[in-house]
Amino acid sequence: MSEETHQLRCTECGARIAGTAVNSIFRCPDCNGLYDVIYPWSPLATSADVASGSNLPNPSALRWLWQERRTSTLPIDQSGVWRFRDLFPIVKNESIVTLREGNTPLYDLPRCAKIAGIDWLLAKHQGMNPTGSFKDTGMTAALSVAAQRGFEWVACASTGNTSAAMAAYAARGGLRSIVFIPEGKIAWGKLSQSMDYGALTIQLKTDFDGCVRVLTDLVTRFPIFLLNSVNPYRLEGQKTPAFEMLEQLEWQVPEHVIVPGGNLANGAALGKGFSEMHHLGLIPRVPKISIIQAEGANPLYRSLQENGGKQLIPVKANTRATAIRIGNPASWRKALRTLNATGGWCEQVTEQEIALAKAEIGAEGVGCEPASAVTFAGLKKLVAQGKITREERVVLVLTGHTLKDSQYTIDYHRNELLTEVEAAGASPLQQAQHAILRKPPVVLEADSDIVLRTLETHMKISSSVLPA
Ligand SMILES: Cc1ncc(COP(=O)(O)O)c(C=O)c1O
Ligand SMILES: [Zn+2]
Repeated sequence: MSEETHQLRCTECGARIAGTAVNSIFRCPDCNGLYDVIYPWSPLATSADVASGSNLPNPSALRWLWQERRTSTLPIDQSGVWRFRDLFPIVKNESIVTLREGNTPLYDLPRCAKIAGIDWLLAKHQGMNPTGSFKDTGMTAALSVAAQRGFEWVACASTGNTSAAMAAYAARGGLRSIVFIPEGKIAWGKLSQSMDYGALTIQLKTDFDGCVRVLTDLVTRFPIFLLNSVNPYRLEGQKTPAFEMLEQLEWQVPEHVIVPGGNLANGAALGKGFSEMHHLGLIPRVPKISIIQAEGANPLYRSLQENGGKQLIPVKANTRATAIRIGNPASWRKALRTLNATGGWCEQVTEQEIALAKAEIGAEGVGCEPASAVTFAGLKKLVAQGKITREERVVLVLTGHTLKDSQYTIDYHRNELLTEVEAAGASPLQQAQHAILRKPPVVLEADSDIVLRTLETHMKISSSVLPA
């Protein structure tokens, strides 16, 4: 597999270039559009491409091959991303840098389903990747391209998870990495990861959008492979959870997939994965993909409300779900196309709703980081609005592990997270749910009688508030 297996196509003007011809900012020189990776068999390929492409993927053969690779001992077969490499032949096998990413669980969430008022709810937990977030699936793909093209340096601007993933994969591949993060605005666990994996970590006195501005300039002045999600190879890896999810569901397509929205690449990546599977005949239809934003970082939601998505209205982003604290998302047009093509919705949720949803997912024994919990908060809203009906099968994409932001969880349980105004926004039912879910640590003397009395009191309180 080599560079000639694919091309890059501008998502705005349709111009096509060889992968190696792309500029350092991954934008079309004519119209500033972002690129998609296309193959001879892609939905957007021309008849000439199809004629030139020998061995077009065959759905039954692919399913069989992907299953077979599960028993292989080869690292690239054990990877839950590269196992599907037939549908993103972007590098030679020898160039692949893998940490055996993917292979993430699909959990059922029966109690959350009941809370939301639907029969069937699953969570594809991308936080169970090697560095604890979905970013690993894209990073293994794009960093392997950087390695094959001989880059020494890679870089990204990040709200935390991209930097953790990039630093890890760069270290594995023997490349050097530079991380730009907004000072004081990312979770400590994520910051510690980029240091642990040996990246040059630069905290800029600005927000995420400011970090992107600085890095975009830097890559035009120094030979660095840019690993933000404007890099279309990231999305090739990030589309693979769609394949894995369908495999786990025995190829039964769910009605709805819900993702959080930050820089807005992930929803588009999964949309690309589903659309390619549909085009190749692996599935008979695509699920609706909905994107949920935090109310304080809602540029796509606002733009849809105010101008039907004709133009992006950037916002000054502010949310405790720091992973999605992004006001000027690069991939908004790609995300909008995914919403339109699949018939999904864009919703926003408040800080209080995010906190409650996160605690509810945690109480199922699954847990996730705050940005991931917007999916469940959004699901509740979409059901209440009648946009999702009881019998529809829904999959939430949980993007990050609960340990990514343990301070948020501790503050929630100590009732130190929300302001009074935010807390007052909760309905009486939501307030009661918060009261049941909060489990602050109890400090006691080391005496079993005292512990026993506390346990008895706790049992009385629990039985008085818990539903029979
Ligand atoms: C945990 C988590 N969830 C969601 C997102 C948003 O993904 P995207 O930027 O592709 O919209 C990010 C990163 O930005 C993230 O780290
Ligand atoms: Zn263009």
